[in-house]
Amino acid sequence: MTLQPPPPLSSRATGTRTMLMWSAPALAIAAGAFLYLSREDKKETLGVGSGGVSKLKGSKHNSGPTLSSGPGGIGGPPMKGTAGSKADGTKAGSKADYQEVYNAIASKLDKDENYDDGSYGPVLVRLAWHASGTYDKKSGTGGSNGATMRFAPEANHGANAGLIHARNFMDEIHQQFPWITYSDLWTLGGVVAVQELGGPKVPWRPGRSDREEEHCAPDGRLPDGDKGHDHLRDIFYRMGFNDQEIVALSGAHALGRCHKDRSGFEGPWQHSPTSFNNEYFNLLLTEPWEFKKWDGPKQYVDKATKGLMMLTTDMALVQDKSFKKHVDRYAKDESVFFKEFSSAFSTLLELGVPQENFKNFEADHSGQQYVLKTTAEQENSS
Ligand code: HEM
Repeated sequence: MTLQPPPPLSSRATGTRTMLMWSAPALAIAAGAFLYLSREDKKETLGVGSGGVSKLKGSKHNSGPTLSSGPGGIGGPPMKGTAGSKADGTKAGSKADYQEVYNAIASKLDKDENYDDGSYGPVLVRLAWHASGTYDKKSGTGGSNGATMRFAPEANHGANAGLIHARNFMDEIHQQFPWITYSDLWTLGGVVAVQELGGPKVPWRPGRSDREEEHCAPDGRLPDGDKGHDHLRDIFYRMGFNDQEIVALSGAHALGRCHKDRSGFEGPWQHSPTSFNNEYFNLLLTEPWEFKKWDGPKQYVDKATKGLMMLTTDMALVQDKSFKKHVDRYAKDESVFFKEFSSAFSTLLELGVPQENFKNFEADHSGQQYVLKTTAEQENSS
């Protein structure tokens, strides 16, 4: 494939653009390549998700998403990897190298205005979280070290429905920067999305290595949206988080939306789902929420417009005293939310990574993670 030079840095995506385009199934998918896809991925390629909707969204995807059949992709040859050499033979891994990857991701976030609300940012945050949130501190299994969602067993977990859009996005970036591990790339994607959509700086460092299919996390490690506070604690305590961190991390639901054909739930949490802010907490506290009247899974909608939604797990944050005090804090002061989200998200992205993976980085950087620049900062300083 011919690599295109990255387009000029785009300014941060804001505002809500919701354009749903439905079309006939993707006849254009090359039949040979299609054979590489697992059953579930075929379903997704055809737009038949958990809701059974046999339609496709977004013009790019109408001609079939980029196939994950390259190195390390689903159906492709298994890939090992640690950060390696660049095409010109020089060693990869300086801060400038990762800033370059950051910029390439940032410049493509809004490459397809018909995709959801106009940005891939939210689904990239979800990929980073689902790649990391499988961690079990007792057994030391799961977590962001491995990018094992490249393989069918984990890609096909119900919780990961729809993440093929994010993985395909990242495959294109990986073709530009083959020296970066998928595990570093996917976690970096979460950082880029949060920072570019107006959220806090998220300290991040490289060092994750990709692992083989046998390291796929077992199903059932990610939270279900239709459960309550006990479930939230079971899931997040298992990763090593506390109540305050559960609430902070849930604030990522400022971004993006639920898709009927992915999770079965429907709608965004706030009016501007491509802006990272503390609106989610304000809405939780101030909107009257009622059950959505439909034959779908149990969820809430705002009484006034019925256009916004909350999951049962979101509502648990205001129903449980220990959670609610943090909702109050974050609604009152966005900077407190930003600070605590940044810290918890940075921790999340390193779950399951053996400390020795960071040894070289530690030695070179005296323990300081990278804080990469936003595209806006770079534009202002040039
Ligand atoms: C607290 C437990 C959580 C539950 C039950 C939950 C559940 C869900 C569900 C059902 C969706 C909709 C998926 C779809 O239909 O496309 C979703 C989307 C999303 N979640 Fe969560 N989530 C949780 C925590 C988190 C955390 C910790 C993060 C990140 C730190 C996160 C980030 C996101 C984002 C950004 C989206 C939007 C994705 C998109 O627009 O494509 N979630 N979540």
